[in-house]
Amino acid sequence: MYDVYEIRKDFPVLEKVIYLDSGATTQTPKPAVEAMNDFFYNYAANYGRGAHRLSIQATNAFEDARETVADFLNAPPENTIMTKNTTDSINIVANGIGFESGDHIITTAVEHHSNYVPWLRQKESGVLVSVADIDSEGFVNPNQIDEMITENTKLIAVGHISNVFGSVQDIEKIIKIARRNNIPVLIDGAQSAGHMEIDFKSLDCDYFAAAGHKGLLGPQGTGVLCIKDPDTLQPSVLGGGTTSEADLCGFKTKSSPECFEAGTPNLPGIIGLGAAVEYLQKIGVADVETHDNQLARSAADRLNEMDGVSVYGPKNRAGLVSFNIDGLEPHTVAMRLDQLNICVRSGYHCAMPGQKALGINGSSRASFALYNTEEEINIFIDAVSKIAESRN
Ligand SMILES: Cc1ncc(COP(=O)(O)O)c(C=O)c1O
Repeated sequence: MYDVYEIRKDFPVLEKVIYLDSGATTQTPKPAVEAMNDFFYNYAANYGRGAHRLSIQATNAFEDARETVADFLNAPPENTIMTKNTTDSINIVANGIGFESGDHIITTAVEHHSNYVPWLRQKESGVLVSVADIDSEGFVNPNQIDEMITENTKLIAVGHISNVFGSVQDIEKIIKIARRNNIPVLIDGAQSAGHMEIDFKSLDCDYFAAAGHKGLLGPQGTGVLCIKDPDTLQPSVLGGGTTSEADLCGFKTKSSPECFEAGTPNLPGIIGLGAAVEYLQKIGVADVETHDNQLARSAADRLNEMDGVSVYGPKNRAGLVSFNIDGLEPHTVAMRLDQLNICVRSGYHCAMPGQKALGINGSSRASFALYNTEEEINIFIDAVSKIAESRN
């Protein structure tokens, strides 16, 4: 197991606050920030092969970062698309499949809006969308998805880890069901990539979307999309970078990954992401998973013991815990915690359908990452306990 106090030195902001909002965005370690500085100070230039030396250096650094991320997720680099965020990755699929009236999509009630609204939108073109239920702990039943399949089902889109409940879905079973029925499947890995081992090849899903700025420790404005077969998607944004030839009559589009990366990419961000993933690789994602889950489970158990505090999600949760204090709005709880130097998220966490289905009007959420400590959890638990007691 790595030394959490040693790695905290790479995240200076942690000296100032107790940061329990890594589910929204993680902090970025020094080596990744330094890699971005190096780009700005020494070789900032645009992407493009065979141009001047700075451009070649910038292009090579971008491609090295792609290789690092692809290697980390065990995906082919040529089918690993560097995007802006998870939402962008999912929309590349939603706009690229070319759904037609009468097609059918299956998603679930536990999804983040990013893996929900792009599918609902397809209804405007006559596509049918089925939404699988969640149980009281935020789990989807793969058998229900199996039963929802029709001969017109063109995609199953499921989140790996719920950003509200911390429930880890049985995506292996869902992917098997999809394979058996020859239906493509998209996994929203926003909360899983970097928090647990992901092996794109052995998962055998068609599309895996993830954030660079969450578990992968990269900067904001970075994301990734792994695609099994790029021929299943039409690029939805075209222009510079995607075009191999153009004349007055038409154009030819490049192959993957360039055809999905229109315009100037986020070179500094992706280079920072590559350095962040190298950092994570050295620490070891299996240890990170154990660490995050242990903190979340211990926090959830202790919150559960408090009078007037409701905790959502399963006992065997991934690294986050959502909760409410009776009689207090989630934002009020988050603001009081902030006054005590503790940063948590509050509201619906961009995942309204699942919470509404379970009668939850938003919640506060503490989410954990490799740099959080038991001491921080103790301080957080004391703070929640005091806020809960002060209501009386
Ligand atoms: C499960 C899930 N999916 C999608 C997203 C959207 O991610 P991004 O902000 O990278 O677009 C989030 C963000 O919190 C999430 O938790």
